Amino acid sequence: MNNPHSAAQWRIPVLLALIAAAFLIFSGVAIALYEENIYRTQQVKDFTEQASILAANETAAVIFDDRKSAQEYVDAMKVNPELQAVGVYNQAGKLTAQTSRVGALPDNLSDVSQLSKLGLLAISVPIAQKNVKIGTVYVWATAETVQRRIARYLGIGLLVVMGALVMVVLSVSQRALARANTELKLRADNLAQLNAQLQREMEERHKTEEALRQSQKMEAIGQLSGGIAHDFNNLLMIAMGNLQLLQRRLGEDAKPLARYIESAEEGLRRAAGLTQRLLAFARRQPLTPKAVSLSALIAGMSELIRQSVGAHVETALALDAKWLVLCDVNQMENVILNLAINARDAMPSGGRLAIETRDIAQMTPPLDGDGFATGDYVELRVRDDGAGMDEETRRQAIDPFFTTKPLGQGTGLGLSTAFGFVRQSGGYLGIESAPGSGTIITILLPRAINDEGQ
Ligand SMILES: Nc1ncnc2c1ncn2[C@@H]1O[C@H](COP(=O)(O)OP(=O)(O)OP(=O)(O)O)[C@@H](O)[C@H]1O
Ligand SMILES: [Mg+2]
Repeated sequence: MNNPHSAAQWRIPVLLALIAAAFLIFSGVAIALYEENIYRTQQVKDFTEQASILAANETAAVIFDDRKSAQEYVDAMKVNPELQAVGVYNQAGKLTAQTSRVGALPDNLSDVSQLSKLGLLAISVPIAQKNVKIGTVYVWATAETVQRRIARYLGIGLLVVMGALVMVVLSVSQRALARANTELKLRADNLAQLNAQLQREMEERHKTEEALRQSQKMEAIGQLSGGIAHDFNNLLMIAMGNLQLLQRRLGEDAKPLARYIESAEEGLRRAAGLTQRLLAFARRQPLTPKAVSLSALIAGMSELIRQSVGAHVETALALDAKWLVLCDVNQMENVILNLAINARDAMPSGGRLAIETRDIAQMTPPLDGDGFATGDYVELRVRDDGAGMDEETRRQAIDPFFTTKPLGQGTGLGLSTAFGFVRQSGGYLGIESAPGSGTIITILLPRAINDEGQ
């Protein structure tokens, strides 16, 4: 939440607001000083004007020393409350008329400086006739009162304070907004993460459900076909036994019929082979597991594999697994041969078949590996660069009797038997394939316990 990025985000607007507030205060003070200056100049100008008018009026009274008239003009000035005192001095500097709110004025012009201690604004204007100075008018006025001055500047002050406050409030709210924004973004990120996680979980769940459905389907088909195959096998055995009895009974007479009997026997043997595969798929076939090295087993049948796939398919073996696995050797050989033949069929115009083994320590179960526990496994991968399978085919490939091969060429039991056998041996079989990208069949078998670390 307190990441430096967001701190920097709000620091800039706050700094700007503070600069603006400082500028506002500075301009407020400058305006006030300017105003004060103008006011002072104006005041001096006003009083000088009034004094000048009085001086002009007093000219005759001073020439003729008409003190009464002089006093009348001075008294007229009383109406202005800002004027604290007015004095008219004649050519000799003697006071001839006066009015004062601050006590008596000095009699002599030379003493007027005594009044400076009162802090009044003092303005003097000469009384002149034909450019000859014949006297002096002195005016003392109040400099503005503190209250009035405060009242005058209060407006500006208030405006400045309000402006500064607005700036501060703006900056604070900007900061709060930035923080809320960051928080909102964080929440949105969290939400997106949660969403992605939910999506992943849903996908995993979907896959697990799919795997469960598949295994339930296999179980049901297994039970059904296993039951049929078992009884069917018994019936086949009865037919086979009876054929042999017939052959024995006929003795020498059987010779001309041998062809028919042999082909009937061949048919029965093939039917028996089929039921064996069905039983293997249904996991009802008795297995004789032993600890074997898959690498050694495959190396031993490499020639058989090469012959089965033909010269147009290049065979590459990478047999790195060292551990042993517990499985029925004959069944395992059948499975490998089946996978090699499937690969060959997927590469009618040639290609590359790779068979690889390796040891994987403490492997976590694949998603669709139902009932598969973490542990040491030996992995077998049969890889071809053939036609590959579309999604629909890939999903059905291990279904018994599913085949895309022409009638008479495939029974559709190869992969389903392999699947049944691998599962019965506690292992896992997975198919990765896409049209045009070849196929990888992965078989995982648990490491044999009596393996002794070879
Ligand atoms: N390596 C592969 N490349 C492409 N498709 C494959 C491969 N292996 C299996 N298949 C597909 O899966 C189907 C089922 O294979 P499976 O081995 O079970 O039966 P089959 O090969 O058709 O017949 P059978 O093995 O009984 O002779 C195949 O028909 C084919 O469509
Ligand atoms: Mg096959």
